Amino acid sequence: MNLKAMYWRIVGVSLGVFGCVLIIVTVNRTLRAEDNTHRVTEAYQGFQDGKCKSCHPAIWREWENSMHAKAWVDEIYQAAAKQVPDRETKCDQCHAPQPILITGVGKMPKLRDKQREAGVSCLVCHLDAHGAMNGPAASAETYFHANVTNPIYTEPTTLCGTCHGQQSVPEHDQVSSFLNSKFAEGDTRCATCHMPVVTRLQSTTSHESIKGRKHTWRGSRSVAQLKRAATLQLGYVDGKADVKLRSKTGHILPGGTLRTIVLEVTRLAPDGTERQKQQISISAKNENRLLPNENRTYAFDMASATTGDTIKARLIYQLTPDTPEPKWILMAEKMLMIP
Ligand code: HEC
Ligand code: HEC
Ligand code: HEC
Ligand code: HEC
Ligand code: HEC
Repeated sequence: MNLKAMYWRIVGVSLGVFGCVLIIVTVNRTLRAEDNTHRVTEAYQGFQDGKCKSCHPAIWREWENSMHAKAWVDEIYQAAAKQVPDRETKCDQCHAPQPILITGVGKMPKLRDKQREAGVSCLVCHLDAHGAMNGPAASAETYFHANVTNPIYTEPTTLCGTCHGQQSVPEHDQVSSFLNSKFAEGDTRCATCHMPVVTRLQSTTSHESIKGRKHTWRGSRSVAQLKRAATLQLGYVDGKADVKLRSKTGHILPGGTLRTIVLEVTRLAPDGTERQKQQISISAKNENRLLPNENRTYAFDMASATTGDTIKARLIYQLTPDTPEPKWILMAEKMLMIP
């Protein structure tokens, strides 16, 4: 065999080997991609068929009653979104999102084309592109899904910030005020106040109770949460009622742009008749929301007060501008009698 022939033979064999490897790699990739797609589809089907619910009943019950489960069916949301002509690109993507581990943690979520009524479902926060469930370290395995330990679940704001901290959607941003506050310097994270720690079996097929967190996400619809949001102090000096507010909330207060906190100060005669009433509204609309840890003092003129009058200060929470008065929630109340 001459050199030229040998050369061409080597080239031919190499190309052949290379081609085979290429085919094997491609086929393998395609199979794996199909496998992943299949697992993702199975997770959606399992969610629909009640599989997550049957193995994680406690977590399911908590989630089901949370606003995350109602993020799509929520009437307040639907009424607001109806007013927006391009809601599919401007609103819906966070209220019925695709799994954020698939679209990218921190990136703007994408609108889901199925199971929209499930809002921010289990899959939105936990399912990855391989069909596995991501979370903090697990204590048991299951045939139904693979478990992947992922640090984002124990980081302060990474996961939540994907929807609660998009720069382009300041109306729904609780993260930046948190990050600019003293809360961010310690061990506090969003979950500290919104997902209380609980030790329990994390599934019906687990053998060992481990520390996890409740999936309740109590917010402004929880009276207990609202009572923790701020403190109120009332004083009376030189014909003025001094009201001191201190925010205890981990972010701007009220946290949402639809909400209003009303500070109401009244003066009552000894027989209970109302002699004076003043109100201050704290809201995004008035651009006077409280920052985390902020102390703020308001002085109310009470020059005509006389001995025996009672001054009453109340902090009241209004969910939306349309919330009727009987449904306003009392956050704090203080009274004093003029000596
Ligand atoms: C970046 C994700 C994101 C986008 C985009 C988004 N939202 Fe939201 N939305 C949220 C989050 C997170 C909350 C809960 C926190 C809050 O109220 O700020 C929320 C809450 C709401 C609420 C309050 C619901 C209630 O029951 O009180 C309304 C109303 C609302 N969104 C309407 C809209 C409308 C209308 C649009 C489009 C113009 C929109 N949202 C776009 C994430 C988003
Ligand atoms: C056959 C029972 C079973 C089913 C069905 C099931 N799981 Fe699990 N899951 C488990 C077990 C067991 C664990 C590990 C629990 C532990 O750590 O003790 C687990 C862990 C998890 C974790 C944490 C993973 C980690 O690494 O931290 C998530 C998230 C999760 N499951 C979500 C789901 C969702 C969503 C569904 C429905 C699509 C589902 N599971 C269906 C049994 C199940
Ligand atoms: C995929 C998007 C998304 C992620 C991720 C997300 N949320 Fe939400 N969250 C929402 C939406 C949308 C709403 C508003 C639902 C509504 O009121 O219609 C909401 C509402 C809330 C509420 C208000 C509940 C109420 O009763 O008013 C709290 C509290 C909350 N989320 C906390 C968190 C925390 C803490 C995390 C991180 C562990 C988180 N969220 C992650 C989208 C998300
Ligand atoms: C808004 C995002 C979000 C949604 C929706 C969500 N989870 Fe979680 N899940 C978390 C976070 C954050 C943790 C980590 C809590 C911790 O620090 O232990 C977690 C932890 C878990 C764990 C591990 C045990 C634990 O508490 O740490 C399981 C199991 C789990 N989730 C299942 C589910 C199931 C089932 C659903 C639906 C019914 C669901 N999750 C919905 C955010 C979410
Ligand atoms: C120190 C406790 C604390 C921390 C930390 C905290 N929150 Fe809150 N959060 C509250 C309280 C109290 C309320 C109720 C008052 C209000 O409506 O803002 C609340 C309300 C909310 C609401 C409902 C707002 C509305 O208008 O309905 C959302 C959404 C929320 N928090 C998300 C977050 C996210 C995201 C983080 C992390 C960046 C976080 N929270 C950290 C205490 C906390």
